Amino acid sequence: MMKPVRKAILPVGGLGTRFLPATKAMPKEMLTVVDKPLIQYAVEEAMQAGIEQIILVSSRGKSSMSDHFDHSYELEQVLLERGKTDAYKSITDWLPEPGQVTVVRQQEPTGLGHAVWCARNLIGDEPFAVLLADDMILAEPGCLSQMIEAHRDLGGNLVAVEEVPHESVDRYGILDVVEDDGRIARANGLIEKPDPDSAPSNLAIIGRYILQPDVMAELSNVRKGAGGEIQLTDAMARTLSRIFFRGIRFTGRRYDCGSKEGFVQANVAFALARDDLREKVKSAIREYCDD
Ligand code: G1P
Repeated sequence: MMKPVRKAILPVGGLGTRFLPATKAMPKEMLTVVDKPLIQYAVEEAMQAGIEQIILVSSRGKSSMSDHFDHSYELEQVLLERGKTDAYKSITDWLPEPGQVTVVRQQEPTGLGHAVWCARNLIGDEPFAVLLADDMILAEPGCLSQMIEAHRDLGGNLVAVEEVPHESVDRYGILDVVEDDGRIARANGLIEKPDPDSAPSNLAIIGRYILQPDVMAELSNVRKGAGGEIQLTDAMARTLSRIFFRGIRFTGRRYDCGSKEGFVQANVAFALARDDLREKVKSAIREYCDD
């Protein structure tokens, strides 16, 4: 019997150096796309997919993220007194249940693999999801829901993938593909941030993973890899001989909100996807483009 995926790890401890000065005194995961912080989109995607336990792997100076998932009594009270029901709902409707969000600290920024490993005691012997909040995916149902559905039949390790331009492969974990039906690709090799000249493909891992607990166990053994960091890709690669590793091409569009262009594009795309903003934003964009 396959165990269900109940827990999700959200590594949110990074320094956000690609987004300075915005992230000097503010976590990059609190940057807003339209009117919600990146972290809220990721938590909502996880909860829509049936995840029961959210584990934020955070770091010093990022407590605004835990506050975001707590009540803000004073604000709630004022909004209620003023009859601002919609605004009240916008800060309460999506709040997780008590105990649903746990925060652990990554004391040093030593890589994605290390961040995931920091949650090991909360994961135990279960499959788990990992969501990187700065990869935003506009999709219905959400990307993780699509993956959980596919994972019910496939099992093993499953990651979201998409083809990226050849010259950009050195920004991603890349799959060495052995079988591919156009939607699901199976890999027998994985390499983190390869040189474009030696990359086995241009099929890149996007920040959504469903992993077996064996990957967590391997994280205890991996040494520093690409960029001098403990890489999740290296731990996944160590399980390839015994656990199927597959990539799924999800339906939807992904925005790299770790880059400035991606972040601006996400704001435009998410605004255009909203009934209350679409027309106004469209006409504003047309006006700017005509200049
Ligand atoms: C991380 C992973 C990489 C993956 C990417 C997706 O890299 O290490 O394998 O392809 O996320 O966004 P980072 O963007 O943290 O450098």
